[in-house]
Amino acid sequence: MDTINPLKDQPHSIPLRKLLLWALCALLPIITFYHLIAFPFPHSLSQSKQSLVITTSSSTPSKEIGNASVEISCDYSNGNWIQDKLGPLYTKCNTIKEGQNCITHGRLDNDYLYWRWKPNNCQLPRFDPKKFLQLFKNKNLAFVGDSLARNQLESLLCMLSTYSPHDLVFSHGEENKFRKWHFPSHNVNISIYWSPFLVKGVEKSDKTYYNTLYLDSVDEKWAKDLGQMDLVVFSIGHWYLLSAIYFYGDKVLGCHSCPGLNYTEVGFYDVYGKAFETTFKTILDRRGGGKDKLDVIVTTFSPAHFEGEWDKYGACSKTKPYDAKEKEKLEWMDAEMRETSIKQVSIAKKEGHEKNVVRFEAVDVTKLAYLRPDGHPGPYMHPFPFANGIQERVQNDCVHWCLPGPIDTWNEILMQVMIKKMDKLR
Ligand SMILES: *[C@@H]1O[C@H](CO)[C@@H](O)[C@H](O)[C@H]1NC(C)=O
Ligand SMILES: *[C@@H]1O[C@H](CO)[C@@H](O)[C@H](O)[C@H]1NC(C)=O
Ligand SMILES: *[C@@H]1O[C@H](CO)[C@@H](O)[C@H](O)[C@H]1NC(C)=O
Repeated sequence: MDTINPLKDQPHSIPLRKLLLWALCALLPIITFYHLIAFPFPHSLSQSKQSLVITTSSSTPSKEIGNASVEISCDYSNGNWIQDKLGPLYTKCNTIKEGQNCITHGRLDNDYLYWRWKPNNCQLPRFDPKKFLQLFKNKNLAFVGDSLARNQLESLLCMLSTYSPHDLVFSHGEENKFRKWHFPSHNVNISIYWSPFLVKGVEKSDKTYYNTLYLDSVDEKWAKDLGQMDLVVFSIGHWYLLSAIYFYGDKVLGCHSCPGLNYTEVGFYDVYGKAFETTFKTILDRRGGGKDKLDVIVTTFSPAHFEGEWDKYGACSKTKPYDAKEKEKLEWMDAEMRETSIKQVSIAKKEGHEKNVVRFEAVDVTKLAYLRPDGHPGPYMHPFPFANGIQERVQNDCVHWCLPGPIDTWNEILMQVMIKKMDKLR
């Protein structure tokens, strides 16, 4: 193939092993996430069976030892879900997207609401909306990404609204893909930007079954506002599983899951990494030289839990979390997506540190999400799916999360990570 490959500076360009695995899983994701992520209806797959052990550590909370405050390392990413009588901060909330409003849609079991994430070596405090708003007084926060970014944002809005009301001050686009809320009590603004690739791209349509990505430039729909942001939270991934053609400049790098097109199958992990690289580089170029601090957070990949066909009764019908011992290893694809983003964050972190203005961090939720097969809407993506009795065929969403639900924990971790960062500034 005579295509140039800017991905080749990565140590493992496209080894045979990967190619084979790509070929193997090329067809699976497309049937899974194709419709669900693009909104209408979910499809399913049983995921690749290989797995990797995950190891990581992130933030450092302080712990009182005697009366000395000592920094110990806390790894929020590994732990277990333990039962919690307290339950969620909220039950009703008017910013929940229809498809994730499980309680209102008649989901009867409610055990899934009574679990708390317990990291192995430390505590994760309950979300404190007042403290969160104080922390971000006079600041602009932005969530950028796909429907999981929106899912996380809506969780945050629900938790904050238990303490302080907000106004929707901007809304634009089909399905309100661009919105902004204002919290007058603390002059905090929170926005959402639809950008499922982060880089420039054209989403698949009625005319093309594939997405087109331009890996060398960021999507200006969010990047044009970079100058006003104090915190940006990126959450992407699932759209990368879909069929796509990848451009770098005017050269075609290859494609993914693209029968009938005369391009090399290159899978999606390397391009996923490349998208972060381009994004972080652009952020450093535009904000690295300034005086105003910018925090950049990446929420790592959030696994789906289809157990069989997407439209079959019981596609994700578990009612309890997995025990961490029962599921030590992530599925191969989830692990690979997670690692790709974490690697890019750690590279950017070093660069950002040198410039000292832009700070990068990963909020590593992959493992804790993986342990929550019970937290998805499943058939309750629609109201009262069994009003006329149980049907064999029913649409299921086993990708997004019920609100309230496990995704509230992503924001608890986000809050702790930000508290620690801000402490360091003092
Ligand atoms: C701890 O506190 C005690 C009494 O408050 C004080 O006498 C002692 O010097 C303190 N130790 C340290 C290490 O600060
Ligand atoms: C938040 O948005 C409001 C309304 O758009 C604006 O008046 C305010 O200045 C913004 N706050 C910050 C911190 O930028
Ligand atoms: C596919 O691409 C190769 C290399 O660019 C070219 O030689 C070949 O003719 C193409 N085949 C078709 C069917 O277009």
